[in-house]
Amino acid sequence: MPLDQIGADAPAAVIPVFDPATAEQIAEVPDVGPRAVDAAVARARATFESGVWREMLPKHRAKVLWRVAEIVDRRIDEIVEVEARNNGMARWLARNLIASAAEVFRYYAGWVTKIHGQSTDIMAEGGISGANARYHAYTLKEPVGVAGLIIPWNGPFYGAMVKLAPALAAGCSCVLKPAEETPLTSLMLPEILAEAGVPDGVVNIITGYGETTGAALARHPDVDKIAFTGSTETGKLIVQAAAGNLKRVTLELGGKTPVLIYDDADLSKAVPGAGLGIFINAGQGCVCGSRLYVQRGVYDQVVEGLANFGKAMKLGGSDDPEAQVGPIISQRQLQRVSNLVEEGRVQGAEVVSGGRILDRPGYFFEPTVVTNVRPDMRMMQEEIFGPVIAVIPFDDEEEVIAEANNSTYGLAAGVWTREIARAHRLAKRLEAGTVWLNAQLAWDVSQPFGGYKQSGWGYEYGWEGLNAYLKTKTVYAEI
Ligand code: NAI
Ligand code: MG
Repeated sequence: MPLDQIGADAPAAVIPVFDPATAEQIAEVPDVGPRAVDAAVARARATFESGVWREMLPKHRAKVLWRVAEIVDRRIDEIVEVEARNNGMARWLARNLIASAAEVFRYYAGWVTKIHGQSTDIMAEGGISGANARYHAYTLKEPVGVAGLIIPWNGPFYGAMVKLAPALAAGCSCVLKPAEETPLTSLMLPEILAEAGVPDGVVNIITGYGETTGAALARHPDVDKIAFTGSTETGKLIVQAAAGNLKRVTLELGGKTPVLIYDDADLSKAVPGAGLGIFINAGQGCVCGSRLYVQRGVYDQVVEGLANFGKAMKLGGSDDPEAQVGPIISQRQLQRVSNLVEEGRVQGAEVVSGGRILDRPGYFFEPTVVTNVRPDMRMMQEEIFGPVIAVIPFDDEEEVIAEANNSTYGLAAGVWTREIARAHRLAKRLEAGTVWLNAQLAWDVSQPFGGYKQSGWGYEYGWEGLNAYLKTKTVYAEI
């Protein structure tokens, strides 16, 4: 995209973009900086105030969103190509995620014609005449205004679309900043949105580093809301930056998903479930199950099964259509994953399988199974965001619940057992916004998704996800 379209007349810096499977530079984009953020916010504000989008007939707005989905489906090969190259994720996963992104637009297209408030008749004592007062009260749902969308690199196109769809359905205008590592599929969006009929200036894409461009968006006084996905650390900075004008904030942050496998579980499903649940996308998913608690009777069998599952996975770059798992996103993240494993090893953890950086170009790390861990190790406390699973034996239910909940995070949790009552009991006891019973990684745009504890604020998906881009006004009319 030309610089003048991004609005960067004098970008502060140029960001190199890499193929993480080869470590080769494939593109560069500007770090547009605060002035271009001002310009993008001003464009979003102008389109919002003009009503060109939020006042469009709902049935037409719905059709525009539906058309976005159709264009994404039509261009999916091209988007997969760019996404897999820029992010490194396996092609099958890129295709799944991009097809899901189109479905998210279809889902929210359906909501556009169903946004409305509620009405109530109210009677209260002490009207002006001394008689009871009667009111007809009703609520109006209105778009929050200009929404800043800050996206991470682990599912770039999907991540952008999941925020854009409800924001646009609500009638907001947007400024979207993709992660500095993965801007390329977001830069395809202006063409896709224009072809679908989203008016010019309603969605403004800006590229840049978090500390410069992202921070300028988060603190901008004319932005009404920030929707953020990323690290808990950056989430806290965004909350601080938002304090200036008390903009609304929704946060989808890190996780340390505990998974429990009981003796009675169907191991033919639980082992591959737990394996894919961590190794998918090289462990770079906020809901990846990085802590696995296994009841003593099946512990050895599960450790061995997981190690074999990890060893059998085919690693490769976007040029390898057979690859099941790609590389880590960057040298920085690869080093972080490797350091956490090394630190654990020095403190007594046993690396049962994997544990090494692959001896080839790119940022590949082996699927890794670790045992002998202690709750105080950094790899048990912090999000690793790599293909590393710690396996811990347990005997007693109360003990394992306490350990599973012993985390500052609370995004997701999983339980594998054949005992129905136990499964539902644990669903209530585990402190997480999503609980999987005899499943992992299940998600659907119709169901709310949000974090307990330091895993987030608010919800995405479903009605809650749309409501996060709406404000409620209450009107009382005396009758
Ligand atoms: P990050 O949270 O710093 O970056 C995510 C997005 O926020 C990017 O677009 C970045 O440019 C932006 N950003 C960074 N600092 C900002 C600031 N001060 N103001 C506004 N925007 C800012 O994540 P990072 O540094 O790439 O990864 C570090 C760790 O974060 C990972 O190891 C992982 O544990 C976690 N993470 C979690 C994700 C999730 O899906 N929940 C996604 C990405 C990272
Ligand atoms: Mg960061």
